[in-house]
Amino acid sequence: MSERLEDIAAAMVADGRGILAADESSGTIKKRFDAIGVPSTEETRRDYRELLFRSTEAMKNYISGVILFDETIRQKAADGTPLVDLIKATGAIPGIKVDKGAKPLAGFPGDTITEGLDGLRERLEEYYKLGARFAKWRAVIDIDVAKGVPSATAIGSNVHALARYAALCQEAGIVPIVEPEVLMDGSHDIATCYEVTKATLLKLYGELYAARVKLEGTVLKPNMVIAGKKSGKANSPEEVAEWTIKLFREVVPAAVPGIAFLSGGQSDEEATANLNAINAIGPHPWKLTFSYGRALQAAPQKAWSGKAENVAAAQAAFSHRARMNGLAAKGQWKNELEAA
Ligand code: 13P
Repeated sequence: MSERLEDIAAAMVADGRGILAADESSGTIKKRFDAIGVPSTEETRRDYRELLFRSTEAMKNYISGVILFDETIRQKAADGTPLVDLIKATGAIPGIKVDKGAKPLAGFPGDTITEGLDGLRERLEEYYKLGARFAKWRAVIDIDVAKGVPSATAIGSNVHALARYAALCQEAGIVPIVEPEVLMDGSHDIATCYEVTKATLLKLYGELYAARVKLEGTVLKPNMVIAGKKSGKANSPEEVAEWTIKLFREVVPAAVPGIAFLSGGQSDEEATANLNAINAIGPHPWKLTFSYGRALQAAPQKAWSGKAENVAAAQAAFSHRARMNGLAAKGQWKNELEAA
């Protein structure tokens, strides 16, 4: 595998493949395990993630890379094989979440700033040695128009941090996934999501340019343009696709090799149908694929429920979602295939 940043980035968004976001922090994975009645211990977290990485059908055919949490990149499978080696054996690229989470932004109630820049150069050096060839940093932008959220300060500080992170990654030979997530939790309409995402991405690409980040060696991980969950409005896949592509054509440079969406709380099938509709209206100057956490893992988590006898069923559920999203990344998904 080539070590050039642009080759790694191109492999991350290769045709019909996308990224498995398995980098839930200890707090988030506990929430997911609580929902299926499984205690969150170092061993259950390992068993669960090992199950995913040993899902050969999904991993070999539809998954280009896996985002890991710090604990996981150091863990070994039950038989002693490092989990990173399991991933590499399938042909997928190991990646690592390096941000330290979103914290309240002082002076701006409702806004957050993602932390984790201090000591990042040294951490990246270690992660490289542990096998990571790409990284992820998630900035979180909430929308609450009545409260003036997000402030221009929140957008500005978060994208500045993303640019500093991206430059450090490239220095370390690691491709940065640049993730400015505009949340879909609010009650805003799709036009507001478009405006806020546009303001964020415009500023982001200005900061990346100023930080001398080579766009060819990056992957963008954005939200789709979609109405907030509390708006009471459901957008059709065609609407989501039209707004999303209109925006990206306006603000994402063609030098960016690929865009890998987060699922952000969309249902499994919604995330797939929307990605499919986005690709169906191509051609586009960038690859458009998935970097899903929840929309790839909800089904296998439920099928597994912490029981060894359910491992095969969980792997089948994961492979099914991976295949559906792999097809959507080529605009070849059809609703009828969901039942197959
Ligand atoms: P979701 O697909 O569950 O939004 O998670 C993707 C992710 O990695 C968010 O940072």
